[in-house]
Amino acid sequence: MVKGSFKGRDVLSISDFSREDLLHILSVAGQLEKKPRPDLLKGKIMASLFFEPSTRTKLSFAASMIKLGGQVIGFADVRTTSVKKGETLWDTTKMVEAYSDVIVTRNDVEGAPRLMSEASSIPVVNAGDGANQHPTQTLLDLYTIQKEHGSFDGMTIGFVGDLKYGRTVHSLAVALSHFKCSMHFVAPAALKMPDSYITMLKEKGITVEETDDLDAACKHFDVLYMTRIQEERFPDPIEYQKYKSVYKIDKRVLELCKESVKIMHPLPRVGEIDPKIDETPNAIYFKQAANGIPVRQAILALVLGELE
Ligand code: CP
Repeated sequence: MVKGSFKGRDVLSISDFSREDLLHILSVAGQLEKKPRPDLLKGKIMASLFFEPSTRTKLSFAASMIKLGGQVIGFADVRTTSVKKGETLWDTTKMVEAYSDVIVTRNDVEGAPRLMSEASSIPVVNAGDGANQHPTQTLLDLYTIQKEHGSFDGMTIGFVGDLKYGRTVHSLAVALSHFKCSMHFVAPAALKMPDSYITMLKEKGITVEETDDLDAACKHFDVLYMTRIQEERFPDPIEYQKYKSVYKIDKRVLELCKESVKIMHPLPRVGEIDPKIDETPNAIYFKQAANGIPVRQAILALVLGELE
């Protein structure tokens, strides 16, 4: 995807975006945040098809569409749809294509949004597919880093937690590989960043460190990107119990970090950040989630061809 050709494009993987594309979307998001456009998507309909639970992504996409003057259709629970009668994802997509202008979808099956994009002539936006990708989360993560930290070049980011199943980490590492930053991956061996990503980053000349020792590593971080241990992706619940409390960001860990460290988390958190951290100037995870609005507005306006 290149600047000027966003209209009609799918947003399936962050790998489809060049450095120029990423910076352009962030710039459009900045413009929409500064100057709201309440009629920009008047008459357009977004289909919101979430086959997996969501709070932030689903609601911020809906709010973004409404704030731009568009409307939203969808279902609250997949059990109330004809999928329960055995309708395929392909046929479901063919139907929704006839009723809307853009599809935003989440699925626990990796590659499901890509399959839907093959069935659809309208843009399909991946709102998270299994442990694979979450490209729109990455765009709001980038927007947040740019706003709170300034540039990406020269930054050291520490990804902490479930790096095996954490799709937000996979997408963000790919996006940041366009910039001259260092990446530290902190995880137990069983949940380490997949080798394919490490190899790709090294080939692109990114400085990469891998460790399981958060206390030793965290002093290097400008941004600490915390993640939840992804219970729903573990084949064995006993394994999840082993790792669920492996890292926790609390005041003790914060003391070991740079004073200026920014703590991010895609949310939801389930115990891995002490709520006492919320009141510190380091915590930016709620602002990060709020940034979903201008960023998702930009994505919708661009793929629907109402902005370039
Ligand atoms: N960050 C994120 O994807 O949150 P939800 O699962 O609530 O959408």
